[in-house]
Amino acid sequence: MTGADFTFIAALLKERSGLIITPDKGYLLETRLGPLVRERGLPSLAALMDVLRQPGSDSVRAQVVDAMTTNETSFFRDSHPFDTLRKSVIPGLIERRAGARALRIWSAACSTGQEPYSLSMILKDHFPALNGWKIEIIATDISPSVLDRAREGVYSTFEVQRGMPIQMLVRHFEQVGETWRIKDELRRNIIFRRANLLDDLAALGTFDIVLCRNVLIYFDQPTKTRILGAIAGRTASDGALLLGGAESVFGLSDAFAGLPGLKGVYGPTGKTQTKPAKPAWPLPLPAAS
Ligand SMILES: C[S@@+](CC[C@H](N)C(=O)[O-])C[C@H]1O[C@@H](n2cnc3c(N)ncnc32)[C@H](O)[C@@H]1O
Repeated sequence: MTGADFTFIAALLKERSGLIITPDKGYLLETRLGPLVRERGLPSLAALMDVLRQPGSDSVRAQVVDAMTTNETSFFRDSHPFDTLRKSVIPGLIERRAGARALRIWSAACSTGQEPYSLSMILKDHFPALNGWKIEIIATDISPSVLDRAREGVYSTFEVQRGMPIQMLVRHFEQVGETWRIKDELRRNIIFRRANLLDDLAALGTFDIVLCRNVLIYFDQPTKTRILGAIAGRTASDGALLLGGAESVFGLSDAFAGLPGLKGVYGPTGKTQTKPAKPAWPLPLPAAS
């Protein structure tokens, strides 16, 4: 791939999805866009770049963004955040929402659905007190193809064996041939819809719990700051944000602060002013005069 093609595709991905591709990750373009090149009957990746440069290439641009997303996920990923939800965050919210009897939860980059289904299983197994409450889990992602899989709720044996206790598999899934299908009763509270974290998210409403896990790692610092500010605007003042194991708000945004005693859980501070992001690498020194 030429330098000009790389600069073009890197800028397109950053603008459309926030994804930062550095030259050392250039091989990802070959592996992830190869199927699209073949599907469109194009001779090479360079030819795909030419198609993308043409006016009216919006649908192929969307396909490129979809193909470049990393969708790695698993049920109860990292287990610890789900324990914290079960032991502290949800019980606290049940007390505070006893009057309204309603809870709204957002899985903000839900990939193929394991994260929102894990939440749904926890609510069903551990919180019978929520029977009769209005529970909504909104699960969003930029990628239409993962959302299709999430809605289907069908997983391979390998996928259900990663991170999920066998008792939960037996209780919440039906075996369909070689695959496992999540039961309808768990699907009922989940609304899957496409949403780009770079867009205006106000239409989603306000949430008591937000999971935005393992997606900020793909963005640069200004984009992380901007998204954390937008999520703060969608989080109830006594609500909670959970980030991935390698993610944090520190040095990025003062719209959230760590909740005491709860690792990886953040509460909105009410500050709308977000900290200016630090440059991702040291700025070059001015030339000596
Ligand atoms: C690595 S998965 C994380 C899935 C899940 N949250 C977890 O922790 O297991 C990252 C997801 O973020 C989605 N994503 C990437 N950029 C996005 C954006 N700008 N807006 C919304 N979702 C995005 C990808 O499509 C992908 O499904």
